[in-house]
Amino acid sequence: MCGIVGIVGNQPVAGRLVDALRRLEYRGYDSAGVAVIENGKLDRRRAEGKLFNLERVLSDSPLDGHTGIAHTRWATHGAPTEDNAHPHFVDGVAIVHNGIIENFSELRDELIADGAKFSSQTDTEVVAQLVARELRNGVEKKAAVQSVLSRLKGAYAIALMFADDADTIMAARSGPPLAIGHGKDEMFLGSDAIALAPFTNQITYLQDGDWAILHRHGAEILDFDGNKVDRQKQISTAATFLVDKGNHRHFMEKEIYDQPEVVSHALAQYVNFNTGLVRDIASSIDFTKMPSLAISACGTAYLAGLVSKYWFERLARLPVEIDVASEFRYREIPLPAEAGALFISQSGETADTLASLRYCKDNGLNIGAVVNTVESTIARESDAIFPIMAGPEIGVASTKAFTCQLTVLAALAIGAARSRGHIDEKQEAELVHHLVEMPRMMSTVLNDIQPQIEELARELSKFKDVLYLGRGTSFPLALEGALKLKEISYIHAEGYAAGELKHGPIALIDEEMPVIVIAPHDRFFEKTVSNMQEVAARGGRIIFITDEAGAAASNLETMATIVLPNVDEIISPMIFALPIQLLAYHAAVFMGTDVDQPRNLAKSVTVE
Ligand code: F6R
Repeated sequence: MCGIVGIVGNQPVAGRLVDALRRLEYRGYDSAGVAVIENGKLDRRRAEGKLFNLERVLSDSPLDGHTGIAHTRWATHGAPTEDNAHPHFVDGVAIVHNGIIENFSELRDELIADGAKFSSQTDTEVVAQLVARELRNGVEKKAAVQSVLSRLKGAYAIALMFADDADTIMAARSGPPLAIGHGKDEMFLGSDAIALAPFTNQITYLQDGDWAILHRHGAEILDFDGNKVDRQKQISTAATFLVDKGNHRHFMEKEIYDQPEVVSHALAQYVNFNTGLVRDIASSIDFTKMPSLAISACGTAYLAGLVSKYWFERLARLPVEIDVASEFRYREIPLPAEAGALFISQSGETADTLASLRYCKDNGLNIGAVVNTVESTIARESDAIFPIMAGPEIGVASTKAFTCQLTVLAALAIGAARSRGHIDEKQEAELVHHLVEMPRMMSTVLNDIQPQIEELARELSKFKDVLYLGRGTSFPLALEGALKLKEISYIHAEGYAAGELKHGPIALIDEEMPVIVIAPHDRFFEKTVSNMQEVAARGGRIIFITDEAGAAASNLETMATIVLPNVDEIISPMIFALPIQLLAYHAAVFMGTDVDQPRNLAKSVTVE
């Protein structure tokens, strides 16, 4: 979603603001802009599309101020045009904004009735208009901003600056995150610490309902009632992460190939390699006596949760209530206070997931966060944090975060199974042994399947629709395969539980629609093969993703068979995720799409 940066600096800031925006590109955007204060006046450059357009405009017509704000916009209200791009200016007030002002139309009507003229279709501009009106009425800046904040409804992060005050940026957070960076005689503002990493690692996170006044030498942080609040300065680890594609064409490709390494970081956190058992996590969340576990998340993170439902239920005999967070938050699910809840989020900022978490918290549940960003809001609001150790994921389509989420959830499910007395130490050691083998298996698979997948992806990119089928944990994987393909290649794809084929989707089968069947040689294999036969009997083309035992046991004619090594059921979702990720990636490359920043998508979805 939108990215915000600001600098109250002691040297020209435009170039540095754009560099910081580049580090926020991964969030997804469709226009960008930068504004500075120069000799008591606001000036700005804005451009549709990618940051290089903005850079071109800036190189033709540079900006020279020492204080500025900048923004990458992911359009919500109004098309992604230059006029709608931020920063917006109203009578010497400049604003950038992330999120949605829900009561903007009411405020806009009020302002228009009061004579205001709007130059954009955005909800953002109403905030600048309201502040400008207060200032015209003689209210001083701090009071003006505070009174305007009290009128805004919705989830938003904003940054404001004023033409006549080059020593100040004001910022407010009600929902989407904002981080303040402390420099030497300079202060910074950013949507996350990654954006600020080149400038400083000393970060203060605003909490929901905080607003701040940044000056060159420090920041004052207040609540929306104007009371000073104390927020800790912390040393961020974001600077230690390299945001770099290495030798890869795209971040997504790099992140796919990073998986053996990052998954081993996740394992090291949850597995004791000396004892060969899962580390004791009982102190942070106790699965022992809980009657049930609620899990909620969005998109790929939800699908990782759905895989884990099979593990928690089968291994730990722990019933799981799971739903996508946008539904979960409103279902008013009756949940016993003794139950546990897990929220899975790469960014840790997803609005619906956070709302679901708060619902469970209000119901007294013990909350665990499975997150990549340990400094995120979801992490901070949880009783226990389970870092997935994936490192920053820049490609919008989640890959390494998915397999790291699965790794952590598998370890948690094994730990829960042990503490609930459903597996003994020998069984636990066996499961852990398979987990420990996983990084090596992943490396082998990534090396072995790449040429075949690339060739197959070329074929696949000629089709308009694709169906994915699977049973057991391969069912959520089928959903994930379809999600990955559609989001980056724009080929229409659907995932189904293989057993559901006969209940509707079989009507679609013809030679124009390849069916990708994910079927390791597990307990469900024979049944999935029967479904494949139904597809074959109707002239459907099958892409069969299986293991050596599965390939040996099936003699069906396929469009392609991808054979993976035989692995234990506990790690098959992580291993089988690799061909579906690579297939989507190479199909997208053939289609010529913007793989890392697919159209309309955002990395961190901080609005409903
Ligand atoms: C798909 C994808 C999304 C995210 C979803 C949740 O490839 O990346 O579906 O998984 O938006 O995001 P987080 O995990 O940040 O809560």
